Amino acid sequence: MSLEAIFKACGCDKAAHHYHRFYETLEAPRHLLEIGVYRGASLRAWCRHFPCTDILGADTFTREHCPADFVPLGRPAVVKADSRKANFAQFYEEGEGPDWIIDDGSHRPRDQAATLKNLWPLLAPGGVYVIEDVVPVDVIGEDHLPEWFRKKPQQGHFTMAAFLELACAVSATGATWERHDYRHLSGKPDSVLIVLRKP
Ligand SMILES: C[S@@+](CC[C@H](N)C(=O)[O-])C[C@H]1O[C@@H](n2cnc3c(N)ncnc32)[C@H](O)[C@@H]1O
Repeated sequence: MSLEAIFKACGCDKAAHHYHRFYETLEAPRHLLEIGVYRGASLRAWCRHFPCTDILGADTFTREHCPADFVPLGRPAVVKADSRKANFAQFYEEGEGPDWIIDDGSHRPRDQAATLKNLWPLLAPGGVYVIEDVVPVDVIGEDHLPEWFRKKPQQGHFTMAAFLELACAVSATGATWERHDYRHLSGKPDSVLIVLRKP
């Protein structure tokens, strides 16, 4: 089954964003860490697509309770943690950090920046760090964002200043990075990935 079909079968919106097009280009990871569990759709999809990969999901579980069938040492493993500040090194053996890190958390640029600063040191050499659902404020323009991003509770989070904080955090890693823009395929304003590759 293709990754797109697995995403759809698991009810994961990564297919609607066309992210399978990017993920299919990568080698299977040994250790995958995803920020943002929610109802578990993407973790179920990763488990199906990568039967040999160690998979850890982290969430604050403030929006939804942890799915009842997910347990701390199961597959996927799940932990309650805030990606912006939790010590994730405690979940990995020395020198065995994740080679894929996916930030599918709050999607707010300042949170994405803080998460990148916290997790970048953990990424294994040669690993890939993916920030999902980036709202390209620099391209769309702060005043032209869909209303959903401008009204409460998002008000103040999708500003040019916040986006620049994310851009600075990306730049501060010193890594090569790419922007993958699927908005023309999905019709969604946030179908954008920022991808960093660690040397
Ligand atoms: C878009 S949902 C995740 C969807 C999931 N990855 C999927 O594709 O099925 C975002 C989740 O991120 C969580 N979240 C938001 N901010 C977070 C943070 N700072 N640390 C950890 N989880 C966070 C929310 O609680 C929410 O459950």
